[in-house]
Formats: sequence, C-alpha cells, structure tokens
Amino acid sequence: MDILLALETSCDETTAAVIAGGHRILSNVVLTQEVLHRRFGGVVPELAAREHIRGIVPVVEQALRDAAVTWSDLSAVAVANGPGLAPALVVGVNMAKGIALAHGLPLIAVNHLEGHIYANWLVKTRHPGADTAQPPELPAVCLVVSGGHTELVIMEDHLQYRLLGRTRDDAAGEAFDKVARLLGLGFPGGPLIERAAQRATPEQDQPPLTRPWLRGTYDFSFSGVKTAMLRHVEAAGGTAALTPAMVSAYAAAFQQTVVDVLVGKTCQAADQFRARCILLAGGVAANGALRDTLASAAAVPVQMPTIDLCTDNAAMIGAAGYRRWQAGHVADWDLEISPSAQLVSTP
Ligand code: KG4
Ligand code: ZN
Repeated sequence: MDILLALETSCDETTAAVIAGGHRILSNVVLTQEVLHRRFGGVVPELAAREHIRGIVPVVEQALRDAAVTWSDLSAVAVANGPGLAPALVVGVNMAKGIALAHGLPLIAVNHLEGHIYANWLVKTRHPGADTAQPPELPAVCLVVSGGHTELVIMEDHLQYRLLGRTRDDAAGEAFDKVARLLGLGFPGGPLIERAAQRATPEQDQPPLTRPWLRGTYDFSFSGVKTAMLRHVEAAGGTAALTPAMVSAYAAAFQQTVVDVLVGKTCQAADQFRARCILLAGGVAANGALRDTLASAAAVPVQMPTIDLCTDNAAMIGAAGYRRWQAGHVADWDLEISPSAQLVSTP
C-alpha cells in the first residue's frame, strides 16, 4: 500500500498528513496560527512564515507518530507549492525537498486548489477493508470557494479541469472576512458571520441586498455586495452603532446573498454540462448555509468534505498528490514555489 507524507503551508496553517492508498487518512495534524493573526485582522505573511519554520518539524513528527509509520514506510512526499503566500509556501516546499532528498523519495508538487477538490476523495478510516465512502462520479462541477479564490470548474476526468467562471473581484471567503470586519465581528470572518447569522430573528429587519447574478456568465462578483453592506452600516451610524440584533440580521442577509449566487450558478452549470455530481471545496465550503442550500437545490448528488477537511489541511494535498504521482507527475529538485498558480490556466 502506498503511503504518502503531505505538507501544506500556503497560508496560516502548518500542516502535515499521512495518507494511505491515496485517500485513507492515517494522520492529519493542523497547527493553526489564527490567534496570532487575529489582532492584525488578517494574515501577515512574514509572521506566518516564521511560525511555519517553528512548527513544521514538530508537525511532521507528530503526523508520522499519529499514523504509526516511520520514514522507511513512505513512498513519496507531496507538497502544496501554490497558490498562496510566498514566504509561507517556501517553508513547506523546502521541508518537502529536504525529506525527499534525505530519504530517497519522489517529490510531488500539488496545486492548493486541486488539493481542496481532492478533499472530496478522502475517507477517515485507517483500515483498507472499511472504505465505505462512494468516490465522486465524474464529470463533476466543482465550486472552489476559499479565502483567495472563487472558481467554478468542470472536472471531466481526474486532474482535468475546464474553467467555467471565477470571481472578477473579491473571493467569497475574502468577502466574508471583509464584511465581518465591517460588522465588528473579527477574524477570520466566515465562521463569525455564520454564527451571527444563526442568531438572526424575524423581528429585526434585514437590509435589502441585490444579488449579483452577472447573467450570461459563470463569473462572480462580490465587491458590490460588500459596498452595499458598507452603505447600510454607514446609514445605521457606523459599526459601533450596530446592536447585536442588527449585526445578526446584516450577517444573515449578506450570507444568504452570497450563498444564493454561488448555489444558483453551480446548479445551472451542473445542469448545462450534465454533471454526474457537484463537488464543493475550499474554506467557505465549511459554511452550513451554503452546504444546506446547495444540497437541497441540486438535482444531482452533492459531495462535500467534512467541515474540518474544508479549511486548509495537508490530507487534501496527499489525496491530490497521490493522483499526480500515479499520473507520473514527479517534480524536479529545482521545484519553485508558485504563489499565483492557477488551477486552470486562462488563454
Ligand atoms: O481554504 P481556506 O482555509 O484558505 C484559503 O485557501 O484561503 O479558506 C479560508 C476562508 C476564509 O476566508 C474564511 O473566512 C472562510 O474560508 N471560511 C468560511 C467558513 N469557515 C471558513 N466562510 C464562511 N463560513 C464558514 N463557516
Ligand atoms: Zn485553502
């Protein structure tokens, strides 16, 4: 059985995982820097890099321990080399190169967004015979929604994607983070908006928001919703003047607007391209309203990773890395980081 060690340090999580057979999680250690970056209201790349340097060795050792494997059990090392923050990516890539060189293992480079998609193939069992999960059927329409990206792609076959649309301005997660700041909720914004929205009551009026459909395309745009939210907050007297009831109502209105557009376009694409399923991926895929709305609106099966596997983790890099490795995609020793790598290159 092939056992991969995978590393992921593209943003503010230092993470290492051990994956068997391309999909079974033997371990998945995630060291988050959330508390460190919170007081800056966003991720500071140099601080992230420093914490990755501090954390990467213990995290890798913990991943091997949790999986009960040794270096000699490993068949390959996979690492996310982009997209992401340059100083942060460097740490994971150099660590992976060092391990591969020292232990004579192939080095596999993985696109972070492809990793998010492949989180849908992961199963949380150590035992080969206990695989119960149904792997997604292709072609699939994939909605990848993270802090830096919002992409709708069709995955015709493994490792093959065609871009249908992407955001023209803010990524979905970025919009959640910015609106959370506007509402005085803090960072990272997605989970805080979701929690505030859950407290919304019918008594409190929600601000009217126009859904940015951009008809005739599968592109997205969220900056207008964000500006509209700013106007509503200003009209209410600014962030400090918002009552908890207003914050909840505003969060609920914003969240539903974004979710409706994401779900509407994804279902339309699944229909048009006769997808056999829809795959949800990326940090924003942890959002309960998005998960529920998509699951009930879609005419085909919807697969989504468990919540802990939606946000950044190395297990997903292991799942994608395994497919890349099987397809013969082994990186050279001069592998570079690729901070603005795309999942699908545009002509
Ligand atoms: O994929 P990810 O962990 O990192 C990137 O690759 O960017 O995504 C992080 C993003 C952040 O913008 C965060 O606010 C958002 O995912 N997020 C959520 C939720 N959990 C994380 N957005 C909405 N609802 C959530 N529950
Ligand atoms: Zn991510």
